[in-house]
Amino acid sequence: MTFLQFPEGFQWGAATASYQIEGAFDEDDRGLSIWDTFAHQPGRVQNGETGDVACDHYHRYKDDVELMASLGLQTYRFSSSWARVLPFGSGAVNEKGVAFYSRLVDELLEHGIQPAVTLFHWDLPQALQDLGGWMNRDTAERFAEYAALMYERLGDRVTRWITLNEPLVFVEFGHRAGGMPPGLRSHDATAKAIHHAMLAHGRAVQVFRQGGYQGEIGITNANTSYEPADDSPEALSATELARDFGTRVYHGPVYGRGYPASVLKYYAERGAGFPIQAGDMELIAQPTDFLGVNLYSRARIEPDDGRGVGYRNARPTLPLLPMGYEAAPDSLGDFVRWVSKEYDRPKIYITENGVCDNTEPGPDGTIDDHVRVELLRGFLAGLHGAMQDGADVRAYYQWSLMDNFEWAFGYSKRFGMVYTDFATQARIPKRSAAFFSDLIARNGVDA
Ligand code: NOJ
Repeated sequence: MTFLQFPEGFQWGAATASYQIEGAFDEDDRGLSIWDTFAHQPGRVQNGETGDVACDHYHRYKDDVELMASLGLQTYRFSSSWARVLPFGSGAVNEKGVAFYSRLVDELLEHGIQPAVTLFHWDLPQALQDLGGWMNRDTAERFAEYAALMYERLGDRVTRWITLNEPLVFVEFGHRAGGMPPGLRSHDATAKAIHHAMLAHGRAVQVFRQGGYQGEIGITNANTSYEPADDSPEALSATELARDFGTRVYHGPVYGRGYPASVLKYYAERGAGFPIQAGDMELIAQPTDFLGVNLYSRARIEPDDGRGVGYRNARPTLPLLPMGYEAAPDSLGDFVRWVSKEYDRPKIYITENGVCDNTEPGPDGTIDDHVRVELLRGFLAGLHGAMQDGADVRAYYQWSLMDNFEWAFGYSKRFGMVYTDFATQARIPKRSAAFFSDLIARNGVDA
């Protein structure tokens, strides 16, 4: 093995999201979100599970921060629940909700951990969904008001903000595939939701700049490293299409390149126009300070006209993880190299990368999640290589601190470096936690 040293000042952290860990869904005047509604409908989430309690982090945040500190985390990415601070999505502020995030931020800072706040990690207030949700242009405006409230209340202590987490996922699974709330399957709803989500991002950046807040702001996108299944020109062009639909549609507008023509054409042919008004694209393209990259795997792409998009995933060749995608250690470095080149070397934070490994405690109570450890090692070696090749990566957040509510999979998929015993709420660090903590102490990895 060789020791790969990361640059001085590189930050190591972990990430979570409100609905996945907080619980306390009906406490202290929290409003309901579309995830509360969805999870409470029979048949939507595996085993009928919900985020009602989740990791009970709302009550256990102090212990959780203590845990982060014991692992040596330098930064922590969490999301604020819009419905906890604005129960109806806009209007009356729930001071108890704001106070929770304020206490959490203080606790982190007291432990020397830099907070990074995601403003939207999928839990849209139900009250706004009732008005059309992301299909309604006003939602972007309500998001800007909510963002302003958070900057106002936490901006004296929080200097890293992420507008949206993975618009690809909440827009497309929620409006095109239907496996997430609001559970629609409509091209029209999807086209509208894409544009209004991007507009919301732009308005939140604009409000941040206008308010003169300190610190930095960016967006986090969902990514896959798309690779041609073979060297044929057909596979190469299918891969470019996959990049249009999976990557460029959410990055292009942020970097002033608009939506890919292929994507606009696909929706237009299905009678679904993007509701773009004058000035929108300039608004979305306001300069950001960093690009948030979430990446878990790769996809080998081959041509396919069947679905109308012109491409499909080819048969996997690597071992599969419980999520159904490949254990692809090189995908992180490969994607970072690609995205860095494509968008002229932005400053990058890996806002999520991690491994689903469902290892349970052994007879002695320890959890030997060696698949996670080895895959993390591979991901980080790849990342190190991409940085050597010039990508400007400054931080890495592992998903996730602890096992939590994995959306439509409920609690059946474990991503934590810390085991959550959901019956007792005990937190048990896994072997990967020791691995990560050692890597932080040495600012580097044996690979
Ligand atoms: C991306 C999402 O942002 C997060 O909420 C999810 O749990 C992880 N990926 C793992 O699937």
